[in-house]
Amino acid sequence: MAEFQAGLPPTGDQKLHGPAAASAQTNPLEHRELQIRKPDDWHLHLRDGHLMEAVLPATARVFARALVMPNLDPPVITGRQAATYRQRIVSALPRHFMFTPLMTLYLTEDTDPFDVRKAIEHGIVTAVKLYPADSTTNSQRGVRNFDTIRGVVDVLSEFGVPLCIHGEVADFAIDVFDREAVFIERVLEPIQRSAPELKIVLEHVTTKEGVDYVLANGASTAATITAHHLLINRNHILAGGLRPHYYCLPVAKRERHRIELIKAATSGGSSFFLGTDSAPHFDRKKEAICGCAGIFSAPNALSCVAQVFDDIGALKHLESFVSINGAKFYGLDANQDSIRLEWQEEPIELSQPISYGTDKVTVFNPGIDLHWKVCSAVEA
Ligand code: NCD
Ligand code: ZN
Repeated sequence: MAEFQAGLPPTGDQKLHGPAAASAQTNPLEHRELQIRKPDDWHLHLRDGHLMEAVLPATARVFARALVMPNLDPPVITGRQAATYRQRIVSALPRHFMFTPLMTLYLTEDTDPFDVRKAIEHGIVTAVKLYPADSTTNSQRGVRNFDTIRGVVDVLSEFGVPLCIHGEVADFAIDVFDREAVFIERVLEPIQRSAPELKIVLEHVTTKEGVDYVLANGASTAATITAHHLLINRNHILAGGLRPHYYCLPVAKRERHRIELIKAATSGGSSFFLGTDSAPHFDRKKEAICGCAGIFSAPNALSCVAQVFDDIGALKHLESFVSINGAKFYGLDANQDSIRLEWQEEPIELSQPISYGTDKVTVFNPGIDLHWKVCSAVEA
């Protein structure tokens, strides 16, 4: 990884500001720490069974809540399935963790709007997830004909429950790097026009087109941004050798798109919030002839994001991005507890892979030094 440096090169309009950044300029050795409200992860893959047990602590240690994606095999389609999945997650939590999984339903063409209504009324689900069929991991049961989701969209609009969207067309004729932009035109705009009240989250946005779409669409539209898309561009995946641990969907784009994502995340604007899309796969499945998509970033995602914000002097907006904007969009209170991050001169050691029997899950390598160590949760 040494040959690529991620991180945004400073430009004229991104001056260092804020007390922490200012002290970094004048005295790099000065003790720097941050205390922010406990963050939430608004897009997380926890999987199930033993793998879920192995990866869950990495998230529960740092985040108060996470929106848990439903693309299991078989997927979490009904309210009942979401309730039992939630129960399995809660049972797998080590006792001392205060962590709340927020559940989603996997939208299919046959999803019963009445079941969605019941799941919402019983407080089981926080959002419904739309995967265009064949767009990503376990999306085969997703949606091909978007006219079929009308009934569910009406229920979501009625309750103010967001539709979280994997925003890529799964059309082989469309270049993989253009799939988000084409999705916005072909699918997202028509859905939004037909249901102006619907709350929409464009998940793991990766392009300037996506950012612009969110900015142009007012308070009912938001986007999650991952830690890894703030740090890597498509060169990290493809130049100088093929690096499967940087392959995820949507695939990282050109550098100019990454810069737009950094601007959006660090702007303080309320429409953007952290969704790590931490997506563990066994290494043997990624380092394969047909490697699967997904980056496992849960163990260092917050340190990565803090570093990106620090590098452009935007730490004052970190709390909005990781702890406030998402909760507000979902109509929830921000967390009362806090978490402390400490700057250390010695870069944090790279996280070791998570072992599971003879299998391993490699943790995201940000390709830059990380100096912000997540220390502890602070009780309210
Ligand atoms: C995710 C997974 O593995 O479940 N993979 C990924 O590359 N992000 C699915 C997804 O969110 O697209
Ligand atoms: Zn995902």
